[in-house]
Amino acid sequence: MDPVSRSLASIDINEFERIIGYGKNPFSNWLYTLCACAELLPISICISSARKRKFPIIYMNQMFETISGYKRQDMVGKPCSFLQDITDASEEDLKSVDIKEEKRQLDILRDDLSKQKPTNVILTNFTATGEMFYNLLNMKPIFENGEYAYVIAMQYVIPNKDEETVDIYRKKAKTLFDLLPDGV
Ligand SMILES: Cc1cc2nc3c(=O)[nH]c(=O)nc-3n(C[C@H](O)[C@H](O)[C@H](O)COP(=O)(O)O)c2cc1C
Repeated sequence: MDPVSRSLASIDINEFERIIGYGKNPFSNWLYTLCACAELLPISICISSARKRKFPIIYMNQMFETISGYKRQDMVGKPCSFLQDITDASEEDLKSVDIKEEKRQLDILRDDLSKQKPTNVILTNFTATGEMFYNLLNMKPIFENGEYAYVIAMQYVIPNKDEETVDIYRKKAKTLFDLLPDGV
């Protein structure tokens, strides 16, 4: 299957058809192109709807599946918080989590999402099989005709939270995000 067809096969079709509007909407081409490019990138990317409660995923790329172990056909339509599911995590991993810091990062994220601002946090997440990882999460709101419509996120799995490491990944994310428009 070619990359564009693969992208299209993995998104929320109702939402996508609404966006595409049979070519009337200028955003359509942009989203189509973004999904096609995202599919091939070695970076985890997802897009959520900001028009719906809890920001359900409308598209996640192949790399998101790879890092998380979740299949997109099961996850599209759900909010990304499934990555915080600790059901299968080991006790040892759970002991190492700084709960206060996680809460602080999540509060920043919630606040930025509600204020329609870009956000940059580090969360402790878990794969579908319960393996823990540090997720440097970058998100950017996208406005459609001035309306808060989508949030694009990139997830980098980082080996540690050292300042130097974090800085490298933040710069990478910034370079990519700077390529995206704020509004369409
Ligand atoms: C586009 C997008 C991507 C997200 N990616 C992640 C992620 O990779 N890991 C994570 O733990 N939360 C992620 N979140 C945050 C959760 O989906 C959710 O917004 C957060 O847990 C706060 O919601 P709550 O108040 O229901 O807990 C993402 C949110 C959005 C909008």
